[in-house]
Amino acid sequence: MGGSTWKGFNLLIVVVVVSSMVAAATANFYENFDLTWGDNRAKIFNGGQLLSLSMDKVSGSGFRSKKEYLFGRIDMQLKLVSGNSAGTVTAYYLSSEGPTHDEIDFEFLGNVSGDPYILHTNVFSQGKGNREQQFYLWFDPTKNFHTYSIIWKPQHIIFLVDNIPIRVFKNAESFGVPFPKNQPMRIYSSLWNADDWATRGGLVKTDWSKAPFTAYYRNFKATGFSDASVFSDSATPDTQTLDANGRRRLRWVQKYFMIYNYCNDPKRFQQGFPAECSNGRF
Ligand SMILES: *[C@@H]1O[C@H](CO)[C@@H](O)[C@H](O)[C@H]1NC(C)=O
Repeated sequence: MGGSTWKGFNLLIVVVVVSSMVAAATANFYENFDLTWGDNRAKIFNGGQLLSLSMDKVSGSGFRSKKEYLFGRIDMQLKLVSGNSAGTVTAYYLSSEGPTHDEIDFEFLGNVSGDPYILHTNVFSQGKGNREQQFYLWFDPTKNFHTYSIIWKPQHIIFLVDNIPIRVFKNAESFGVPFPKNQPMRIYSSLWNADDWATRGGLVKTDWSKAPFTAYYRNFKATGFSDASVFSDSATPDTQTLDANGRRRLRWVQKYFMIYNYCNDPKRFQQGFPAECSNGRF
């Protein structure tokens, strides 16, 4: 091959790489989200690359995706309220609408400086939740941006933090457990005051002298699953939800960082555990 052909070939590679980087970077907040409440406490800046929510004594704030999603992978990077964030909750979730709505939740419960946030998760199907799992994080979520992701397929929902699976909710319809799969959902986030329950169960109140409290968002990415990937996946048995490495990492998180699991709370379910709690189904 002559030198000029190689040059052309290299140039082609550069063009392809650069254009795919541009495509990934154009998940612009202006194009994808509406600021829904809190007036100017919710802001988009850096040409649409960064979003912030703030809360002061008067109000919190929130945003919502313009589009609805039915299955897919949603990634977002968040940097949570730093310093004394006790009493604050940053909710980041997918939800459909109406009384029998479905919902997939991340909620970040703030704490006094130096004490750990709690990452609270839940799954609602057809209006019913009560499926809480809570975790400490293995890093300080206020120092840097970290990626929080939801993989939503007809077979399962996977919650990930920095690409490490922390929770898998499997489709257990064959055991009579409704699974979110018919109602499209929007992405929502809000920063609000929940000092009646959030920090040490409500013992520690919001310190308003530290307001405004601010959380930051960047690098939103939504990936749809082609029908082909959804269907080829349904052919694989449940144990293949995660590969060996994913299962190992999930066990690591559940062993060292999980602080509450509704499926391990017999006091709460005196009449018996929910059906999805039986061996390996959650
Ligand atoms: C806050 O810190 C306390 C004390 O370390 C801890 O018990 C609690 O789980 C932490 N997180 C929240 C959100 O209360």
